[in-house]
Amino acid sequence: MLVAGVDSSTQSAKVVLCDAADGTVVGTGSAAHPGGTECDPRAWWDALLKAGDGLLDRAGAIGVAAQQHGMIALGEAGEVLRPALLWNDMRSAPQARELIAELGGPQEWASRTGSVPTASFTVTKLRWLAEREPGNAGRTSTVALPHDWLTWRLAGSPAAGPVTDRGDASGTGYFSTATGSWLPGLARTALGHEVGLPRLAAPAEVAGHTPAGVPLSAGTGDNMGAALGLGVHEGDMVISIGTSGTAYAVSPRPASDPTGAVAGFADATGRFLPIAVTVNAARVLDVTAGLLGVDTGTLSCLALAARPGADGLTLLPYLDGERTPNRPDASGVLSGLTSTNGTRENLARAAVEAVLCSLADAMDHVAAVAGRPRRVLLIGGGARSAAVRALAPGIFGTEVVVPEAAEYVAVGAARQAAWALAGTAGPPPWPAPPSASYRACPVPQVRAAYAALREATAP
Ligand code: XUL
Repeated sequence: MLVAGVDSSTQSAKVVLCDAADGTVVGTGSAAHPGGTECDPRAWWDALLKAGDGLLDRAGAIGVAAQQHGMIALGEAGEVLRPALLWNDMRSAPQARELIAELGGPQEWASRTGSVPTASFTVTKLRWLAEREPGNAGRTSTVALPHDWLTWRLAGSPAAGPVTDRGDASGTGYFSTATGSWLPGLARTALGHEVGLPRLAAPAEVAGHTPAGVPLSAGTGDNMGAALGLGVHEGDMVISIGTSGTAYAVSPRPASDPTGAVAGFADATGRFLPIAVTVNAARVLDVTAGLLGVDTGTLSCLALAARPGADGLTLLPYLDGERTPNRPDASGVLSGLTSTNGTRENLARAAVEAVLCSLADAMDHVAAVAGRPRRVLLIGGGARSAAVRALAPGIFGTEVVVPEAAEYVAVGAARQAAWALAGTAGPPPWPAPPSASYRACPVPQVRAAYAALREATAP
């Protein structure tokens, strides 16, 4: 039996077809999404169908994982009212501040929902809609997340309504991670009126069927999908360098961090997924490569040719505002530039070190909540860079395990589909991916220079 997993990410749709028994990938497809921080969900649907052409129709079950948090406002008849606002759209930062103050402060939000909302969270986007587009807000009768909406489209039966899972629901800001239930009052407070929320499905539930009768699993958010695809254990810390940068662990207990640095999400297996997320990750490398007029492979070679610390050149990589730390209005800062250190090699090095230092900060936040990791895994497009792999252990101060490159979010969605099909107590025992280990001498001076710049630029 074959199962299909979908990763509807910020940049593209990816589909993998896997053997349900052991996870062997037998087919893959992908199709690009439009750019920008808002997107018509129908473009995701078109990309999903293109990526899944010749794959989805061979699957005995399908699971969808997708970028978290995106707000899809649906009208009475289930129609999409406006383009979805995505996780990396920072326009609702003032509304985040407003909601935090209105509802009793960060501690109150952390204890009620598990997280202190930033502009990424759906709840702040609902408030933005209410304030800036009252007509659309008034017409919104249901709010869905990207994966809920795509699973619903696959089911092709509007009457059934969208279904979600506790993993993706935990990124909305109107869900209690600790109790696993919606907090509809928070959605109502944000939007100004009652709003329908997707039905919550259990981790291994068959959430619906396609018109051809193929079972659909509950689906989940992309970070939860990757954790399931990798088979993450307690004691593991995953660092993912993609469009977002993430550091997360799986935990038997819900997290509740009143500083807001760690979001207390749920995972896709019934456990929890404390996470710290940055909005500037792989793109920092792309932008720097663009500045230098090279591709990312050459950027990596240049970075490896420079010394640790880039001869005093330090980059603060908050190019598009930042979420961890919460600086939605920030931009990048290049510091320490002189006529002697201003080389291509040093700029490339500073960019790689910046991305890794920002994620080392994220990892420290998660470790403060979930405990020091026994193993650090590095995944995502950024992990394909030789410089990133070589420099990560020195900056993280620990050995780093890099699983072979694969579409772990889509694989996790496929594993969830196989689990729903099997109806077993736990996910099917797919073997862990082959991986390589990297070690390096710790370079605390690089993190110290980065931390000094981070603090010197604090608002
Ligand atoms: C998680 C988050 C990002 C998106 C990226 O909180 O905002 O990782 O899920 O797709």
